[in-house]
Amino acid sequence: MQYIKAPMNYIGNKYRIMGQIQKWFPRNVDLMVDIFCGGCDVTFNTKAREHIANDINFFVIDIYKEFQQLGIAQAIKQIDRTINEWKLTKENKEAYERFREYYNRTKNPIDLYVLMCFSFNYQFRFNTAHEYNNPFGKARSSFNDVMRENLMKLQGSIEQIRYTSCDFREFDYSLMKTGDFLYADPPYLLTCGSYNDGKRGFKGWGEQDEKDLYEILDMLSEKGIRFALSNVSHHKGEKNDILLRWRKSRKYHMHKINFNYDNCNYHTRNSNNLTQEILITNY
Ligand SMILES: C[S@@+](CC[C@H](N)C(=O)[O-])C[C@H]1O[C@@H](n2cnc3c(N)ncnc32)[C@H](O)[C@@H]1O
Repeated sequence: MQYIKAPMNYIGNKYRIMGQIQKWFPRNVDLMVDIFCGGCDVTFNTKAREHIANDINFFVIDIYKEFQQLGIAQAIKQIDRTINEWKLTKENKEAYERFREYYNRTKNPIDLYVLMCFSFNYQFRFNTAHEYNNPFGKARSSFNDVMRENLMKLQGSIEQIRYTSCDFREFDYSLMKTGDFLYADPPYLLTCGSYNDGKRGFKGWGEQDEKDLYEILDMLSEKGIRFALSNVSHHKGEKNDILLRWRKSRKYHMHKINFNYDNCNYHTRNSNNLTQEILITNY
């Protein structure tokens, strides 16, 4: 099965394990809410009559909203124009830094997308003043043909998605009814993605966030709304006990996901390094 790849390389994206998680997703969904949507790899690949994609990171949500507003073809034209205007290439560090300084003054979402395309590891990194501060992706990063194609593939589907940007606690869950589906892919307590450490200019993720999320999932479950929660239960000898206890007490189902399937020998040799990715469902 061919999956749609989001036109960005979002930290913690689920593209590599899409097949494994989709296997457990429900069929015949009216509304799908991707409450921690990130780069939207999961939203783009989940069939539903309606989609809402939400993330506290409004920078990424604003990029998708701008793609919708301009239309993909027009957005690509604007991207190409900006690249030419600013003379951005894989080698031109000065141009990248000048453009980054310009973006931080003007904050146009398409400019942020272009900046990200030429940045180190294609990442969204912000300081606490919400200034983009990812360094130049010398010799490696550019708006290449693969990204262009991935962006083009969104034409015809991105228009249908409703984008929102709020803390998961503030989302209006009354929009959901019995039979709808919520996918939750929060930051993981045990691993440290850079959205976890405050470096992206957003507050981190801690035990209270984890507990608040379980409470919301329980509330949805009681209303007959289906959910799937991605997480990591074990990492480098540590266990997410609150997650495992909650799952057990509620009798939700737990499915093991093989994230490192292309690297299993290494992990069987040293089980202390094992990272166990899981999917918890209430159906
Ligand atoms: C593991 S990533 C999601 C990746 C996504 N599933 C993908 O495929 O790209 C977790 C996301 O949760 C978001 N996030 C962190 N705290 C949040 C909060 N309190 N409310 C809503 N979103 C939050 C982060 O900005 C990040 O995009």
